[in-house]
Amino acid sequence: MGRFSILVQLLAIAGSACAAAAPKWEFVQNGTSGVLALEAIVVSPTLAIFFDRATNDPLQIDGHPAWGALWNFQTNTARPLRLITDSFCASGAHLSNGTTVSVGGNIPAITAAQDGRMGLRLFGPCDDPNGDGPGCEIFEDPANLHLVENRWYTTAVRIFDGSLMVVGGTHEDTPFYNTDPVNNIEFFPSKDNGATRPLAFLERSLPVNLFPRVFALPDGTALMIANNQTIIYDIEKNTETILPDIPNGVRVTNPFDGTATLLPLSPPNFTPEVLVCGGSASDDTIPSEQLTSQDPATSQCSRLTITPEGIKKGWQVEHMLTPRIMPEAILLPNGQVLLINGGKTGYAAVASVGDPIGGSNADHPVFTPELYTPSAPLGKRISNAGLPTTNIARMYHSSVTVTPSGNIMIAGSNPNAEIVNGTEFSSELRVEFLNPPFMSMARPKLTKVPSQILFNQKFTMQVSVPNTIRTNTVQVALMDLGFSSHAFHAGQRLVFMDAVLSPDRKSITVTSPPNNRVFPPGPAFVFLTMDDVTSEGIKVMVGNGQSPPVRDQGIRI
Ligand SMILES: *[C@@H]1O[C@H](CO)[C@@H](O)[C@H](O)[C@H]1NC(C)=O
Ligand SMILES: *[C@@H]1O[C@H](CO)[C@@H](O)[C@H](O)[C@H]1NC(C)=O
Ligand SMILES: *[C@@H]1O[C@H](CO)[C@@H](O)[C@H](O)[C@H]1NC(C)=O
Ligand SMILES: *[C@@H]1O[C@H](CO)[C@@H](O)[C@H](O)[C@H]1NC(C)=O
Repeated sequence: MGRFSILVQLLAIAGSACAAAAPKWEFVQNGTSGVLALEAIVVSPTLAIFFDRATNDPLQIDGHPAWGALWNFQTNTARPLRLITDSFCASGAHLSNGTTVSVGGNIPAITAAQDGRMGLRLFGPCDDPNGDGPGCEIFEDPANLHLVENRWYTTAVRIFDGSLMVVGGTHEDTPFYNTDPVNNIEFFPSKDNGATRPLAFLERSLPVNLFPRVFALPDGTALMIANNQTIIYDIEKNTETILPDIPNGVRVTNPFDGTATLLPLSPPNFTPEVLVCGGSASDDTIPSEQLTSQDPATSQCSRLTITPEGIKKGWQVEHMLTPRIMPEAILLPNGQVLLINGGKTGYAAVASVGDPIGGSNADHPVFTPELYTPSAPLGKRISNAGLPTTNIARMYHSSVTVTPSGNIMIAGSNPNAEIVNGTEFSSELRVEFLNPPFMSMARPKLTKVPSQILFNQKFTMQVSVPNTIRTNTVQVALMDLGFSSHAFHAGQRLVFMDAVLSPDRKSITVTSPPNNRVFPPGPAFVFLTMDDVTSEGIKVMVGNGQSPPVRDQGIRI
């Protein structure tokens, strides 16, 4: 054997040893967001939207900086979107007919943008994979299509009739605490003949109640968390039920941002449980200039089961491995929750504490994510074993979302009033992906899924399952990937569906959610997980696909 062929053989062995390396979690940086990604929402199998403040972003449109961008997951590039109004610190969600809406915003700092506080910015459905076709541009008509109230730092979630409930916010530019609150709710499309509904909870939770954490519960009511308080709001009766405070003085809404998520809902009962992590236990009567960027955040996670017995039992407390202000809690298709981003000390908002670091009210970024396993026993749920560490700080104004490929996209971070460079916490345009081990393994594939899923129905999906996967147990997740901003993922939802794999492993029979309250009707992704290996997601329309408000569908449970 010649020397050359020995070398070739050695290389081949080295190559296969490399390929056989155990798949692991990893961070991969790829691409830049064009505009600062302070809000992110997945809008199609290949596209997501980033929104920023109208300022000096590098991406240009019509001869001025853009403040919205369409991100293409196939190319990892961003193209500018044409917005009329300022989307700074807005919320957003999808409607029952598949259109995505960006809600609220701010008074712009540049003349290219109009006042966005009553903003309603419509997008899609956009079916072209590259975002070039009809429906793939933002539609705005501020004179005729707008909210009833000015809302900055509001939260929008889709409810059981497919419309959006828009909760709270502030009227004006407030530097830290909510000093000009919008203590009411409205809907899009509007209900109550366009009147707003006062909500006493918003008044009680001042001054730390911006971006209220709001969830559509499976009975059609809504859970709301602001400051250290929690209520159930009955949308149909317009009544509040007060639940126990989050323990130990922990406050979790802006500017003391912790995060919160509904845990996955499972058949047959779809019992709702909420998980709240991070934030701050500081006293909210201290003036902001007497707070410091070095005040410790809390590591507390609190979990409550939203049933009469669960409420009686109260919040269960456990702790993350690190304190975090501004973390996000991301539901993964296998039912685990990823806790990621944020800092160990300080607060949200820009340059308002006594000693900001550059513009940052927070310091000591947390670079290693943690995983929360809802089914594990108390005290054993949180771990960072096997999770990688990044070197990119994701502090105020960052975003994160599960992608249709099943990995996690992380973008943004800008504790500054505009795009700045060269300071300790400068504006971050690098997009990063957190790849679970399955991204480098043979994965199950959903080869045929109905494009529409009606409620309380059995349907069949065609699948291909690699023979490296030994189990025949399937987890089928129906997911709204949510709208990420300000340490909260508005509208994020995971509903597991009963599912059985056929003996030939070529199809799965699935039972859809019983009704439009368990999964508010609208667009979603279906993911299949086997042996902790998750497929790519397939986009579906859940429910009748009509414009809101839609009628009740399926059966009540
Ligand atoms: C970044 O993404 C592009 C488009 O998918 C791909 O071609 C390229 O290989 C990726 N680069 C890295 C470093 O992963
Ligand atoms: C919630 O905050 C209020 C106002 O600071 C405080 O009086 C109350 O004790 C807190 N609740 C808990 C359970 O810590
Ligand atoms: C900041 O400067 C670095 C180095 O020149 C550059 O790579 C990066 O893109 C800049 N960031 C922004 C937000 O302009
Ligand atoms: C969805 O409904 C909204 C609210 O009525 C409407 O503005 C939008 O045009 C609708 N989208 C489609 C695709 O019908």
